[in-house]
Amino acid sequence: MPEKNKSRIAIPVPTGKNASSETGRRGPRIRVRTSRVLALLIASTLLPALTLAQPQAKPASAGQTAPVAQEKKAPATPAAEPSTYAGAEACKTCHAEIYTGWEKSPHWKQTYKEGGIAKHGCEECHGPASSHVADPSDTSKLFLFDKAPTKEINQRCLTCHAGGTQHMNAINSEHTKNGVSCVSCHSPHHAKESEFLLVKAQPELCYTCHLQQKAQFDMPFHHRVNEGLIQCSDCHNVHGTVGPKQVRTSSTQDAVCFKCHIDKQGPFVFEHAPIKVDGCQSCHLTHGGPNPHMLKLSNVNLLCLQCHTTSSFSSAPEAPSFHNQASLFQSCLLCHSQIHGSNFDATFFK
Ligand code: HEC
Ligand code: HEC
Ligand code: HEC
Ligand code: HEC
Ligand code: HEC
Ligand code: HEC
Ligand code: HEC
Ligand code: HEC
Ligand code: HEC
Ligand code: HEC
Repeated sequence: MPEKNKSRIAIPVPTGKNASSETGRRGPRIRVRTSRVLALLIASTLLPALTLAQPQAKPASAGQTAPVAQEKKAPATPAAEPSTYAGAEACKTCHAEIYTGWEKSPHWKQTYKEGGIAKHGCEECHGPASSHVADPSDTSKLFLFDKAPTKEINQRCLTCHAGGTQHMNAINSEHTKNGVSCVSCHSPHHAKESEFLLVKAQPELCYTCHLQQKAQFDMPFHHRVNEGLIQCSDCHNVHGTVGPKQVRTSSTQDAVCFKCHIDKQGPFVFEHAPIKVDGCQSCHLTHGGPNPHMLKLSNVNLLCLQCHTTSSFSSAPEAPSFHNQASLFQSCLLCHSQIHGSNFDATFFK
């Protein structure tokens, strides 16, 4: 699965630690299977560069022009006067402040200073900008992130960031589908957080949109996210997942919970079925709630009796004494203490 996804975006990829060399080495053929939109977007990203590469290619070795010719035949009708690359130094003269900030960002180092894809710097993201340099009021050929639709923004960022497992589901993520783009959370120029170029730190970043979850983490019993002990992104991959609710799986593809609560994973000789079948959520609220241990119900016996409905649990005299709900023995855990599974007892006694 990861292999397949990687090959889908066989676009020139930078030399960062995440940027796997296998992505860049597949030659010029772009294999796009899922979406024609994607193909078009990629084409529109590459086309200006390729058109432009022609005049430049003359002094270079003849071999380099071959892939260009191959790529060119697909999309027709290039713009009448394609803008060409002006180079980041040209931008510096007028956008000094942005340039200075950019010099401190990982993008500068990897896409310009140390030579990324084509060392185009600013123009890797904003597109060839010679016409804008010639006439600053002409921004028509620039890629402008605050005006572009989510899909195009994401595509632009993903030309470099599609590699690796973290982003392989980005195109279909809940965020993407709902118009939350890369730049809703990241800002290449105005990041408030030095780490990951985030517009805000977690969890505040998430709470700007997810107010219901904010309330859940304010409940008396909660995962200590607000306190900084764990983060939303420990459990969620906001860039998209295969499974529902953008919840991560552990390295063994199990429930995300086992990443930290290893003791609950087993395998046990005697498993408690709902843990394996429905997951931890059958008894716990994951974010937080009003009950101790973040249980869904405050009375443990009522929680258990949602599923264990046999007549043995009743207040009738014929009920087994240990299960007679009229007696003291309502607290199931008094006897069935190994509720997450046991290696010794089928009924989860100590
Ligand atoms: C000669 C000065 C000058 C140079 C050189 C220059 N710009 Fe600009 N740029 C401007 C001005 C002025 C504006 C504001 C134009 C406007 O909004 O009408 C601007 C606006 C922009 C915008 C934002 C447009 C918008 O509407 O949000 C981007 C992006 C941009 N420039 C990128 C670049 C890049 C990339 C380069 C280098 C390739 C560059 N500029 C070089 C003067 C310049
Ligand atoms: C990694 C992609 C990326 C690179 C590289 C990049 N930009 Fe931007 N640029 C953006 C995004 C995204 C925005 C929208 C504002 C934001 O989110 O920071 C933007 C906004 C702008 C604006 C609009 C004004 C503003 O402050 O938001 C200008 C001007 C600009 N960029 C110029 C440049 C120049 C000059 C460079 C090179 C020094 C550059 N950009 C490099 C992605 C990039
Ligand atoms: C809902 C907010 C949000 C959106 C939308 C989002 N990100 Fe992120 N991104 C984060 C957070 C939070 C982190 C840090 C935690 C983590 O790695 O999951 C991060 C980390 C990253 C990282 C560094 C970590 C890594 O391993 O890749 C990159 C690169 C990145 N995002 C790129 C993108 C791109 C490209 C998009 C658009 C396709 C995008 N992000 C959309 C919130 C977001
Ligand atoms: C030309 C290729 C390229 C493009 C386009 C690009 N990036 Fe990056 N980005 C990189 C490289 C290279 C790094 C450094 C990777 C590393 O250090 O592992 C990086 C790093 C990042 C990081 C991680 C910063 C950190 O602190 O680790 C984030 C977040 C990110 N980019 C977001 C974006 C977003 C959002 C866009 C679109 C607006 C974008 N990138 C467009 C190449 C690119
Ligand atoms: C700009 C607004 C915005 C930000 C910021 C944001 N989200 Fe979202 N998020 C949404 C929208 C819109 C949806 C899709 C609609 C919904 O399910 O609420 C969504 C969906 C989700 C989902 C999937 C919900 C489902 O039902 O499948 C998760 C999980 C999630 N976001 C987590 C996060 C986390 C974690 C952060 C912070 C790192 C974050 N979001 C930041 C707007 C945002
Ligand atoms: C301990 C792991 C964990 C943490 C930490 C966590 N989540 Fe979740 N989240 C889950 C699980 C599991 C689900 C899906 C099952 C459920 O609804 O309980 C979920 C569901 C969601 C949903 C979908 C809501 C719904 O009702 O379907 C959103 C949105 C969300 N989380 C946002 C966040 C935000 C924002 C944060 C941080 C402030 C966060 N989560 C922290 C595990 C976590
Ligand atoms: C990133 C690590 C991490 C992940 C992932 C995680 N937890 Fe936790 N969990 C903790 C920590 C740490 C505590 C202790 C909380 C405290 O002391 O504030 C905790 C506490 C709990 C508690 C309450 C314990 C008590 O005695 O009150 C429950 C229940 C729980 N987690 C269930 C889950 C479930 C269900 C999942 C999966 C959706 C999950 N956890 C995922 C770290 C994690
Ligand atoms: C059948 C209901 C049920 C399911 C399913 C369940 N739990 Fe629990 N869990 C409980 C009960 C009841 C308690 C309270 C135990 C007590 O009071 O001793 C508890 C307590 C906990 C605690 C805190 C005390 C301890 O034993 O460490 C953690 C952590 C925890 N559960 C995690 C999980 C995780 C992770 C999962 C999923 C793998 C899960 N639970 C599934 C019922 C359940
Ligand atoms: C989400 C449903 C669900 C909840 C909630 C639940 N259980 Fe279970 N439990 C099951 C299923 C399904 C089995 C296995 C089928 C069976 O043997 O009845 C099982 C098995 C058991 C067994 C072993 C039965 C046997 O015959 O060996 C005991 C004991 C048990 N549960 C106790 C509890 C207790 C105590 C609670 C409350 C803390 C609880 N269960 C909550 C679904 C649940
Ligand atoms: C005083 C100790 C005690 C308490 C309290 C207790 N049980 Fe039991 N439970 C037992 C004994 C003893 C058995 C029979 C074990 C055997 O057959 O080996 C049993 C058997 C079971 C079984 C498997 C047989 C059946 O009847 O389905 C389930 C399920 C079960 N208990 C659930 C619960 C639930 C739910 C509660 C709380 C409402 C609870 N128990 C409270 C002692 C207790």
